Amino acid sequence: MEQTGRGIWGSRLGFILAAAGSAIGLGNIWRYPYITGQNGGAAFVLLYVGCVFLIALPVLIAELSLGRRTTLDPVGAFKALSPSKKWPMVGYLGVITGIGILSFYAVVAGWTLGYIVRTIIPSTEDFAQFVANPFEEIGYFAAFLLLTMFVVLGGVEKGIERWSKFLMPALFVLLGALIIYNLTLPGAGAGIEFYLKPDFSKITASTALAALGQAFFSLSLGMGTMITYGSYISKKENIPISGASVAIADTTIAFLAGLMIFPALFSVGMEPTQGPALVFNVLPAVFAQMPAGNVISLAFFILLAIAALTSTVSLLEVPVAYMVDQKKWSRKKATVVVTAATFLIGLPSALSQGTVEWFSNLTVFGQQGVLSIMSFVFSDLSLPIGGFFISLFVGWVWGVDKAYQELLLNTSPMMAKILSLWGIFVRYICPLVILLILVSKILGI
Ligand code: TRP
Repeated sequence: MEQTGRGIWGSRLGFILAAAGSAIGLGNIWRYPYITGQNGGAAFVLLYVGCVFLIALPVLIAELSLGRRTTLDPVGAFKALSPSKKWPMVGYLGVITGIGILSFYAVVAGWTLGYIVRTIIPSTEDFAQFVANPFEEIGYFAAFLLLTMFVVLGGVEKGIERWSKFLMPALFVLLGALIIYNLTLPGAGAGIEFYLKPDFSKITASTALAALGQAFFSLSLGMGTMITYGSYISKKENIPISGASVAIADTTIAFLAGLMIFPALFSVGMEPTQGPALVFNVLPAVFAQMPAGNVISLAFFILLAIAALTSTVSLLEVPVAYMVDQKKWSRKKATVVVTAATFLIGLPSALSQGTVEWFSNLTVFGQQGVLSIMSFVFSDLSLPIGGFFISLFVGWVWGVDKAYQELLLNTSPMMAKILSLWGIFVRYICPLVILLILVSKILGI
């Protein structure tokens, strides 16, 4: 394994846990609530769930099949299956997107480290002051990237699988407890209404694109993470069941995160549209008035940091697998060089929360601040575009018949029947819906 830099998952559960570990992260607990808040609540939630199961799940199955068939990184997978030189560009887009997402994701993951420290050593700074402090911002951002680097250096099995095994049950239990507590807060009802009572007049092309982008982001799709992870799955596994389990686990955690945040948000009287600061403003306010709030706060931010770590590992894994497979770099060199590059690319995001005025105020695509702009460009644009090409590629170029040979391994006849629908989704429905949403957003409908 050390020589080629490649490995294989130790067990079936190992794979599901690691893929769910990649999917479940800040996307569920930090990004999903603030995007839901900005997009008006319940109607967005319905759109989001629709996007996950009708668009993202078929693409997830496509990515896993591509990976397992080729046992290669995203660029290599397209090279191996396509006669044309153009398709590997989808893989390159994925490698760049991986670095782009990691660069701002690690900044936010750094905030979770900061909040672990602040729970132990109380600070007089509020969130806005904390994120505007360049030493803390850059320090925690760098620390999180280094943590990620060490896990990736450990290799596939040892590095990733170990982290995923105990995380999800613990996160699940803690979310459950916080939901119950937050529902008893005065004024919680308004939050439930916002989160669960849809107002369909709030749906626009922007909302639809935000839902689609969030679905891809939350499932780690559209840039080849799941191609890379699929390349480590053994032939004994059942891809559709594994994919569906990951989608269900991920969506459940996101849904619960919303149920935890919105009642608390309305109870403390804050704005749902405040953006990336949302969770970091609301939760500490709740913890402050809670019995044993410090202990809960510590547990929460530690779990969030670990959930983020299993995701950053998967983001770093894509460019690293590319360098190892295509450029024949050693795993060590690839990991160190990509981490260093990501640090430099992420600095403007780290300094965009009030530290450097220009980075903080820059507004593009209606997004203010470099961090929000990066999040929009790499999540809402790049991932759906990647997903569009992946579904076209699997549906039409590699071909659903060949994909089925990979997919139907170890499935029951009943499952095979259900799966005949999958071909229609990857060939027609996924690319058309993605295109429609992107075009209507561009035309401003
Ligand atoms: N899905 C992760 C989350 O929700 C983030 C993530 C990890 C990701 N790997 C990815 C997003 C690949 C897009 C593509 O936190």
